[in-house]
Amino acid sequence: MDIQSIKQRFGIIGNSPLLNRAIDIAAQVANTDLSVLVLGESGAGKEFFPKIIHELSSRKHNSYVAINCGAIPEGTIDSELFGHEKGSFTDAREARKGYFEEANGGTIFLDEVAELPLSTQVRLLRVLETGEFLKVGSSKPQKTNVRVVAATNVNVPEQIQVGRFREDLYYRLNAITIQVPSLRQRPEDIELLFRKFSTETSEKYHIPPLLLSEEARQLLVSYPWPGNVRQLKNISEQITIIEKDRTLSAEALKRSLPDINNSRLPVFLGKGGQAGMSEREILYSVLFDMQKDIHQLQEAVAQLSNGNIPASRPASGIPSGIETEIPARFPDNGNTYTLIPAERGHERFPIPLNEGNKAANIPPIHAEVIKAANMEEDLSLEKKEKSLIEKALHKYHGNRRKAAAELGISERTIYRKIKEYEIDMEE
Ligand SMILES: Nc1ncnc2c1ncn2[C@@H]1O[C@H](COP(=O)(O)OP(=O)(O)OP(=O)(O)O)[C@@H](O)[C@H]1O
Ligand SMILES: [Mg+2]
Repeated sequence: MDIQSIKQRFGIIGNSPLLNRAIDIAAQVANTDLSVLVLGESGAGKEFFPKIIHELSSRKHNSYVAINCGAIPEGTIDSELFGHEKGSFTDAREARKGYFEEANGGTIFLDEVAELPLSTQVRLLRVLETGEFLKVGSSKPQKTNVRVVAATNVNVPEQIQVGRFREDLYYRLNAITIQVPSLRQRPEDIELLFRKFSTETSEKYHIPPLLLSEEARQLLVSYPWPGNVRQLKNISEQITIIEKDRTLSAEALKRSLPDINNSRLPVFLGKGGQAGMSEREILYSVLFDMQKDIHQLQEAVAQLSNGNIPASRPASGIPSGIETEIPARFPDNGNTYTLIPAERGHERFPIPLNEGNKAANIPPIHAEVIKAANMEEDLSLEKKEKSLIEKALHKYHGNRRKAAAELGISERTIYRKIKEYEIDMEE
């Protein structure tokens, strides 16, 4: 099947060489059993590729099972993928087939594969290497003939570096790599996509089509689209419905586009969007930004209230991790306090401890005060995180998948957080 027919069949819009190349590779490898790893930024269109591969292969009459690895709770993922024996854990009243057994003869798509727990990665590696797996609670290996296509928007080599992804599994999974281009890498497709999404919307709601002014067209093409086609689709649909003036002006379009420079949305962080950042890092990097300011303020206040004028203080007070017990005297009340070492990476001591520092000059830092300050920060960090999650859930009327996507975290994480923060899910 040629590339144009594939696009037509799967509803893929675009004509850029990078997109065509990705589709071409999928078509070329479809009829082999090689594992394929589909890479690309969030919203770039990765989900078409496992379908193309399955449909163009001789496995097409057998099952195609798509699994979002980030959405399955860690406690049940092994059993969902590989099945379990009766009685293998408390709730296992019946034996259960796993997806790898169900997909025998077909294709399994492991979406968000970087979210797999390490123990599950071991099981997956075994299937890929030997075609055998063990049901949870069983020691009898079972055979299965499954083609695996995996996808992720995270930087797997970085995940390997920090010990969250097995290197041997990575090499097994990416016998073939398909790189799905971001919208920035194919600006020539932007207008085409906009027209398609806008026309579909106006036809669906029986409203007149929305035309693009030349300035709006230029803005559309030069915007960096950090959320890729997904973001373009959402915005095209929104403005097609909302705009009264049926020729879209650049001003009207601008109102609908998040301001890249001022936005603190996780998706705008760093080069290449979320690539390489874990769910937690993404959310927390936003919060840490705010926290840093608070730290600096706290230090300044502490120094001022101690009558200590910040002199030639190096940025990092005591090198972290050093055991330090220095009895210091409060000049005002005479109590003795113990200076406790800062946590690694949390240097918060206002003065350096070098030879020149006499005990009396050391500002009174009370261990409890430090702890209390820490706790308060932790609490406010949690509060912010909880409120961000609540807002996203509210926006999507309790739809966890969409809320998680907006926050740039996995579905599993949002489930866990809802439970942890006891977020009320009744809408
Ligand atoms: N070339 C395209 N033509 C038409 N629609 C597209 C194209 N690329 C993506 N889309 C649409 O954009 C949306 C996002 O695509 P998809 O779900 O495949 O993203 P993804 O790469 O899997 O992102 P994530 O990493 O966040 O899961 C879908 O609605 C999809 O149909
Ligand atoms: Mg996806």
